[in-house]
Amino acid sequence: VDAEEAQALLERSVALKSGGAEPRRTPPLLGRSLGLVFEKPSLRTRVSFEAAFARLGGSSIFLRGKDVGIGVRESVADFARVISQYVDALAVRTFAHATIEELARHASIPVVNALSDDAHPCQAMADMMTILEFKDRLEGVKLCFVGDGNNVARSLAVASALLGVEFVLACPRGYDFPKAFAVRFAEHFPGVPLRSSNDPAEAADGADAVYTDVWASMGQESEADHRREIFAPYQVDEKLMARARPDALFLHCLPAHRGEEVASGVLDGPQSRVIPQAANRMYFQMALLERLVRGSNAE
Ligand code: CP
Ligand code: NVA
Repeated sequence: VDAEEAQALLERSVALKSGGAEPRRTPPLLGRSLGLVFEKPSLRTRVSFEAAFARLGGSSIFLRGKDVGIGVRESVADFARVISQYVDALAVRTFAHATIEELARHASIPVVNALSDDAHPCQAMADMMTILEFKDRLEGVKLCFVGDGNNVARSLAVASALLGVEFVLACPRGYDFPKAFAVRFAEHFPGVPLRSSNDPAEAADGADAVYTDVWASMGQESEADHRREIFAPYQVDEKLMARARPDALFLHCLPAHRGEEVASGVLDGPQSRVIPQAANRMYFQMALLERLVRGSNAE
């Protein structure tokens, strides 16, 4: 997506949430179906996709990664060509990002990234919607991500660059954005700095929103103990929040680990917007699916 499309999707998401886009006589995606293939666990992504598609009038088919064995039971290309015969769009959660790209190359239907080891774009766009909802603007807003330069951090950096948000990552040495990501970012967004720091307090200075995520992502369970030590100085607690603006939002994609990446007092405190943030996943994905899947009943 380009900046204009991203902006249009956000406007549509906000309209859908406020109810301003309803009512419609016929649901736009009546009779359509969405396939979901998840190689990793999920609450928010799976349910918000299914709920979004149901609200648009369609139905979903959930496939556990192990059951279909993409690239194991059969080739990625065969899977993509066959599933394209049954459903109108596919949301995929994988380990290797390359699997999603390969699926998209061979499928004749839209393929949506529902999280890979490299990116979580629907999360980041819903997060932009949340910032817009509570700050009334995106341009010039300062967003500080404290933690691992992971899938969520990378997608937030990209969404921020698209929408004029000033993004900064605060991470321990060795957990910064990977080189290949930084190179692609610079190609896509010439002139937009990809900022990172090893000092969380300095990075959080004057931020409008402070964001964190788990220290060990799905698939990194064996590193969890080691990461708990390395990331300990990067917990978002009341002291770190005090470095941000007094009206700063606290955001977390969830699931959260209280007492690790975030203190309970912050996650459950007055600045936290994590529940509306989770809710917005559904509205953004409604806007996205409505755009990707042309319903024959679209008004
Ligand atoms: N934030 C998010 O993607 O949550 P799930 O892993 O539960 O889908
Ligand atoms: N970085 C986390 C996000 C979970 C929604 C993970 O990949 O496990």
